[in-house]
Amino acid sequence: MNFKNDFVDALFQFLEGHLERNQLLMMIEKPRFQDMGDMAFPCFELAKLYRKSPQSIALEMAEKIEAPIFEKVEAVGGYVNVFLNKREVSQGVVKEVLLQKEEYGTLDLGNEQIVTIDFSSPNIAKPFSMGHLRSTVIGNSLALIAEKYGFRPVRINHLGDWGTQFGKLIVAYKMWGNEETVKENPIKELLKLYVQFHEEAEQNPELNDKGREWFKNLEDGDVEALSLWEWFKEESLQEFSKLYQMLGITFDSFNGEAFYNDKMDRVVEILEEKDLLEESKGAQVVQLHEDLPPCLIKKSDGTTLYATRDLAAAIYRQETYHFAQSLYVVGNEQTLHFKQLFSVLDKMGYSWYAGMVHIPFGMILKDGKKMSTRKGKVVLLEEVIDEAIQLALNDILEKNPRLAAKDEVAHQVGTGAVIFHDLKNYRLNDIEFSLKDMLRFEGETGPYVQYTHARAASLLRKGDYHESEGDLMIDDEAWPVITALMSFPDVIKRAFEGYDPSQIAKFLIELSKAFNKYYASVRILDNEVQKQARLTLVYSVKVVLKEGLRLLGMAAPEEM
Ligand code: ARG
Repeated sequence: MNFKNDFVDALFQFLEGHLERNQLLMMIEKPRFQDMGDMAFPCFELAKLYRKSPQSIALEMAEKIEAPIFEKVEAVGGYVNVFLNKREVSQGVVKEVLLQKEEYGTLDLGNEQIVTIDFSSPNIAKPFSMGHLRSTVIGNSLALIAEKYGFRPVRINHLGDWGTQFGKLIVAYKMWGNEETVKENPIKELLKLYVQFHEEAEQNPELNDKGREWFKNLEDGDVEALSLWEWFKEESLQEFSKLYQMLGITFDSFNGEAFYNDKMDRVVEILEEKDLLEESKGAQVVQLHEDLPPCLIKKSDGTTLYATRDLAAAIYRQETYHFAQSLYVVGNEQTLHFKQLFSVLDKMGYSWYAGMVHIPFGMILKDGKKMSTRKGKVVLLEEVIDEAIQLALNDILEKNPRLAAKDEVAHQVGTGAVIFHDLKNYRLNDIEFSLKDMLRFEGETGPYVQYTHARAASLLRKGDYHESEGDLMIDDEAWPVITALMSFPDVIKRAFEGYDPSQIAKFLIELSKAFNKYYASVRILDNEVQKQARLTLVYSVKVVLKEGLRLLGMAAPEEM
């Protein structure tokens, strides 16, 4: 459903080809207020071209422009405003949703091409941070959106399970750790050790050398180092799995950094063959163009780096999946790293590097500052989600104590609150952490959208809705609902093109508000004659809300 093209055609005819169709399409706006029409065309550019006033051009155009679906065309202060025939458009939109159901807005653009999505990727032996939560929910939604557009997402969790920090942790554990306490509460205890290490290292910098030594031992395959590392990894993975299960998120691969240990020699060989490796202060680097610092490949002690493992991973992914696109949902503090990574691949002659995209996001701040793991300033995500679920359960016990699937719905609503709270923000914006905000169920929140969906479901049950053919007389009061429904395919397109789930989250709020207003102004079930037509609209809203929520990785309970 897109009436812009009707407008473009009419404008094109009037202007006798003075402007291209594409240009015209770009110029069409949405009027600021609904009572000013459904589409507007500004005449200010044309005024220059024709050397007339915008007002007089608008007047002239308003008189001549027409199309069957236009009810009225009006000139207002240099704009041509078009009013659509509400009855016809409403019918058209609702019929379209009815016909396509959850396929509404689907597009087969991808042709089954593979998109690898590297997301979540937390670091072993550290708590799952709020930043990792962002990556997790954004990445999951991007995978679902890509799927809707006919791509095949491969979800990869590039676990941070290798690096100098493990040397430090091993040192800390050997000095102050205790097997029993770590087993009881792995993430908390390991974090404590990690924080203690950094505190003590400030007084005693030799500890850092020890840390490096133990990481070297680990890379050299030392049995004690390896078995401690494996144990830390196992305990952490168990904790992370709990979270993923809570959020309903799955991965196709958990190949983390360590997976590439035996694949890095080959990378170094290729770099050597291509004469890209240079020595710099004992280390091996690849020089990049002027505005990028060189990419460090091997340290002077022979140990490898984050970047080396990412190089190996990129090549492995291309060879394994033959991806068309490869996305990295990682915080914007790693922008330089990804620029360097892509640039090295370019220098290596891999043309497929062009399909790689870093999808950065802003930080979660506490009192305007970044939360730092090193200082132990973290919020434990599992506790946050547990609390959200508990609050949702209390809500149900208060408002709908007879609900059968209480626990399941509480789970869906609690996690929904946390997921939506993140996704409604444009990803590049920093977010100030507020537990209260995350656990809010009213206003522009996930539970509000879920509640609207449940309300629609309940109306359909009470009204004994059945799909009907024939004329659908839709009330004029429903117009804001119709225009919202109509925009859904465009919204998905913007979300897809901008890697931006917030488009969908904002849309869901808009549709929910419009629907709740309609619900308050029209007694949907009271009038037998209009009931089925009205319920058909309710059904369309329900379908679109559910599909929108699904694309964000959220459930849509039928009752709550
Ligand atoms: N583990 C890293 C971190 O927490 C993120 C890894 C992102 N993925 C990648 N391929 N580098 O900062």
